[in-house]
Amino acid sequence: MKKTITLKSSKSKPLNGTVTVPSDKSISIRSLIISSTCLGNTRVFKLLESEDVMNTLKVLRNLEIKIIKKNDYYEIFGQGGVFSDPQKILHFGNSGTGVRLMTGLLSTSEVNATLTGDKSLSSRPMKRIIDPLQEMNISITHNDGLLPIKVFNHNNHHVPINHTLNVGSAQVKSCILLAALNTKGTTTIVEKIPSRDHTEIMLKFMGANLIKEKNVIKLTSPNFLKPRELRIPGDFSSAAFVIIAVLLSKKSKVKLKDVGLNYYRTGLLDVLKKMNANISVKNKRKFNGEIVGDIEVESSNLIATVVNKGIVPRLIDEYPILFVAASYALGVSEFYGLKELKVKESNRLTSMSNALSKNGVRLVLGNDSIKIYGKENHEGGNQVETENDHRVAMSMLIFGFFSNKSIVIDEMKMIKTSFPSFKELFQKLGAKIEYFQKL
Ligand code: S3P
Repeated sequence: MKKTITLKSSKSKPLNGTVTVPSDKSISIRSLIISSTCLGNTRVFKLLESEDVMNTLKVLRNLEIKIIKKNDYYEIFGQGGVFSDPQKILHFGNSGTGVRLMTGLLSTSEVNATLTGDKSLSSRPMKRIIDPLQEMNISITHNDGLLPIKVFNHNNHHVPINHTLNVGSAQVKSCILLAALNTKGTTTIVEKIPSRDHTEIMLKFMGANLIKEKNVIKLTSPNFLKPRELRIPGDFSSAAFVIIAVLLSKKSKVKLKDVGLNYYRTGLLDVLKKMNANISVKNKRKFNGEIVGDIEVESSNLIATVVNKGIVPRLIDEYPILFVAASYALGVSEFYGLKELKVKESNRLTSMSNALSKNGVRLVLGNDSIKIYGKENHEGGNQVETENDHRVAMSMLIFGFFSNKSIVIDEMKMIKTSFPSFKELFQKLGAKIEYFQKL
């Protein structure tokens, strides 16, 4: 019988120390893509070396963009928006950000290419990017709204658009902006529900003609982006696992250094403060236009909360770990407006509710909401089906630090997409997490 090595987490001692969390995945992917369109060389320091980011890097190399790794930086030899037809299908693995942003960029470049991804990515909706691109008069083909997508060298028939974004998605917004980079005229995007603005910040930093006023973004092209040194902050979404693990542990105190604090990413801090969390942010400054700071977090007695729809895009990737926090917080927490959670690396509403309830958490699942009955102790002990979702895997391993019986996850390999050092970082802080051989 085939043996699988996976991870097991168990009741842990206090967590203490200072850590630097892995670099930001969203900004790392953008740094490679945007610097490939500059004319000249960009150095990127602290690029996240995770699977999702490396897949975008390989794709760019397949498009004949030279990228080399030096001691402590990557150097990208930008060609001013010129790419060569790839010899292979462009494979993005598990990365929605990679494929959606590159579809936008390539759709208005003079290139013929096919873009695809793994099983999970191939079931995620692409119509949300196909529709606005078609509105720009770009011809692309797709598999009934899913991957693979094909883009063609169609000789500049595309036009700028004035587009209202009904879904709060940074990937859709960024796809349109990157298509607009090579679309003569002014493209306007009106965001009904604002989302993370890493693309806007980086484009402006590299000299793009981009103006943002309230929820209206205007990008006027042609643009000639100039290479500038980039340094990637720590990923707030990875920091979230550490923050919540420390809050739930006894006698614990941890400092997280150089964490990205983009307003549209840090909704979790607002929610946790309402839950009585002891968190402070110090040493705020900027890396290439992005706010970063150090986060200090201490053990806290968390209380339940109600989280409404308005904050969803600022909290989107943190719901799985927030559900774990709610499971151990005193009282009943309620979360609303969770439709977008269903189209992530897994359907996170069902994968998380299955994993939690199987391990003793009482909850009520609605169509796009969940109610979690928190208490100090949960039984644990039942294998978690991660549905190949890195954030489900990591969230439930944190759950296992506090449950009566250990937590084993079915598969650990997806953790590499965003947080390759997860086990080592938590071991360093004092948590009990180890390899486990599953029959
Ligand atoms: C991301 C945007 C979000 C987020 C994803 C990364 C990005 O997705 O969930 O993990 O880098 O732009 P949506 O844009 O689909 O909400």
